[in-house]
Amino acid sequence: MMKNVALITGASSGLGKEFARIHASRGGDLVLVARREAELNVFKEELQGKNNVNVLILPFDLTAPDAVEKIVNEIDAKGIQVDMLINNAGFGGYGNFHERELNRELEMIRLNVEALTKLTHYLLPQMLKRNEGYILNVASVAGFMPGPLQSVYFATKAYVVSFTQGVAAEISGSGVRISALCPGPVHTGFENAAGLGGGNLFKGAAKASKTALIGYNGMLRGKLLIFNQRSFQFLINWIAPLVPRKFLAKTVMKMQRLK
Ligand SMILES: NC(=O)c1ccc[n+]([C@@H]2O[C@H](COP(=O)([O-])OP(=O)(O)OC[C@H]3O[C@@H](n4cnc5c(N)ncnc54)[C@H](OP(=O)(O)O)[C@@H]3O)[C@@H](O)[C@H]2O)c1
Repeated sequence: MMKNVALITGASSGLGKEFARIHASRGGDLVLVARREAELNVFKEELQGKNNVNVLILPFDLTAPDAVEKIVNEIDAKGIQVDMLINNAGFGGYGNFHERELNRELEMIRLNVEALTKLTHYLLPQMLKRNEGYILNVASVAGFMPGPLQSVYFATKAYVVSFTQGVAAEISGSGVRISALCPGPVHTGFENAAGLGGGNLFKGAAKASKTALIGYNGMLRGKLLIFNQRSFQFLINWIAPLVPRKFLAKTVMKMQRLK
């Protein structure tokens, strides 16, 4: 029987792996979702070698229409109770929206928005019934501003922030907590997957292990919005709201431009 279970999406790389390492180091069992099965199997060995925990691997492409249903059916069939849902899988993509491949943008929306929404919709009612549980949605500082040259990515993260704040208000007073982690640039596989490699944006990027720990601990404290750097927290809370969005867009475009 699995106990103290965290279901983590995007657990084959970057922040997802770090969330899994933290949870396992505290004795919690894991359900790990990502596409790369071989990578997940190697990681499972690492986690079980270092900690006395159970790890279930579910190698699914979360952009497939029925992936979330299959995941939920599998955990239900195995009688697994998910105590913590970490909606972490996501990717970005660099370029002018009109020049990018539409399918890639739609896949991004299916992963960053739809899969996160579906998993929350399946698992939140069970948590509310038990009156306990945690959900951590990985958003970004990108969720607070328009993002030219990554317009769809920034918009998906704005959804994650708004969705999390909305649901948090609906369930306040219950024993369930929902949080959004809003990191600035972090060293992971993200930069290359987004086609941002070599840009200035990631020069002072944060460490994935530290960012994940801030997120994990913030979630356990029931913090609604979790930032990994004080400077970003200050900018987002006190400066960005005072700057006209048009100007903010121009600044973000300059920061993101690769050439
Ligand atoms: N790194 C940053 O600078 C940064 C900043 C703010 C927010 N974030 C957010 O942090 C989260 C984690 O990203 P990361 O930085 O750790 O990047 P990463 O190293 O590229 O990890 C992304 C994870 O998502 C999984 N994934 C991608 N497409 C998938 C799909 N179709 N189905 C299932 N899983 C999929 C990947 O696994 P597979 O390839 O095996 O499927 C991988 O495990 C994302 O939501 C990202 O937007 C990152």
